[in-house]
Amino acid sequence: MERPTPTDVEREVSSIDMIVSKSDAEGNITYTNPIFMKISGYSQGELLDKPHAILRHPDMPKAIFKYLWDNISEGKEVHAYVKNLCKDGSYYWVLAQVRMAKNPDGSFRNYMSTRRRITDSAKAVIIELYAKMLEAEQSEGIDASVKVLEAFLAERGHSLETFNECMKSINQ
Ligand SMILES: Cc1cc2nc3c(=O)[nH]c(=O)nc-3n(C[C@H](O)[C@H](O)[C@H](O)COP(=O)(O)O)c2cc1C
Repeated sequence: MERPTPTDVEREVSSIDMIVSKSDAEGNITYTNPIFMKISGYSQGELLDKPHAILRHPDMPKAIFKYLWDNISEGKEVHAYVKNLCKDGSYYWVLAQVRMAKNPDGSFRNYMSTRRRITDSAKAVIIELYAKMLEAEQSEGIDASVKVLEAFLAERGHSLETFNECMKSINQ
């Protein structure tokens, strides 16, 4: 998969936009709504059956995706800030809610993500956090990055157990 070269151009997510996608158990895209295609710049054909990592921005710490997968695979919902890369190299910030949907018999149906605009103040806080996490990852590895995240949560009276509450509280 050829990766777009990231640029400094930010795409605006409007306050009414709800960017939705669904995936199979491996994270391969099985559904996207029209806003997803509009903002990412990809057509439905370019997205279907592709991994969600098609949107992965190099500024995103690995530890955030590890936390995401560790939790959603256990059926827990995750609310995480994500910087996504568009087809033309531009980017957009969202607060993503990701969860597993189950069939009536309790078996796995799909993963679902709904993404919304974030406030400028949340963006400033998260840009700083993710930059620190990325730096720790690059110099000392993913465990060091998780420590940076835990320290950030602890400063706000939270822990990894209350990650979602902390993230939602920042988006004021
Ligand atoms: C339903 C769902 C939605 C996802 N949405 C995104 C997304 O918008 N952006 C993104 O970078 N990763 C998203 N991911 C996580 C990716 O599967 C992947 O873990 C991440 O892009 C990191 O890729 P890598 O492990 O190949 O580095 C999503 C995963 C699931 C299950």
